[in-house]
Amino acid sequence: MLAIIGGSGFAKLAGLGNARREVVRTPYGDPSCALTHGELDGHPIVFLARHGYGHTIAPHEINYRANVHALKRIGVQQVVAVATVGGIRADCVAGTLVVPDQLIDYTSGRAHTFFEGVDQPVTHIDFTWPYDASVRQRVLDAARRCGEPVIDGAVYGCTQGPRLETAAEIERLARDGCDLVGMTGMPEAALAREAGLAYASLCVVANQAAGRGASRGGISLPDIARVLEATMGRVRRLVAEVARG
Ligand code: HPA
Repeated sequence: MLAIIGGSGFAKLAGLGNARREVVRTPYGDPSCALTHGELDGHPIVFLARHGYGHTIAPHEINYRANVHALKRIGVQQVVAVATVGGIRADCVAGTLVVPDQLIDYTSGRAHTFFEGVDQPVTHIDFTWPYDASVRQRVLDAARRCGEPVIDGAVYGCTQGPRLETAAEIERLARDGCDLVGMTGMPEAALAREAGLAYASLCVVANQAAGRGASRGGISLPDIARVLEATMGRVRRLVAEVARG
């Protein structure tokens, strides 16, 4: 079963057929919202709005463990996580879609593992390649079939938020090798790996990162909203194609 986690601007999946909601409780608390089961152009999927259906949960307040645990519990095997990002690399301008292949975690203080507590053996996961190769390929193949240009491969830097970054912080991220910056990719990706879910991310560039290009003098939040509005139809079509494949 395929799950889509929707990020900012993507709190609902338009045109979901036979939709039904399922409330799932977990030992880690409640997920961001009820899970929505439905069909996208006839293909079954599960949808979870990362920030809640009303977009009220900030990136650092999301219960990532509950979200991932809930998906695992209902039998999800593959996850495509849609995430809104700022673009650091010059070709990652507003409206660009990117399937990252690496990440760097700059978050702090988030509940970031299932493997803790005195009753748990010490457990490590391999995270050399944080995104699942076959789910990445599924997204890239779907993009090719629907003629949607997508950048294959980028380094996603995950900041704590909820504020946007300073220009100097973005310079540092760029020196670290980050191509994209977002606030929700971690610990979501690591928890998915811990839970044995095959997870990849589809990033939507909403703006150039602080101090870069069009954002040299600052980031316009109304412009971000406009870009997301204009881009989400493409994301929905691409996600439907992913469900088909
Ligand atoms: N920084 C961090 N997260 C983001 C940005 C950004 O510039 N744009 C959208 N999500």
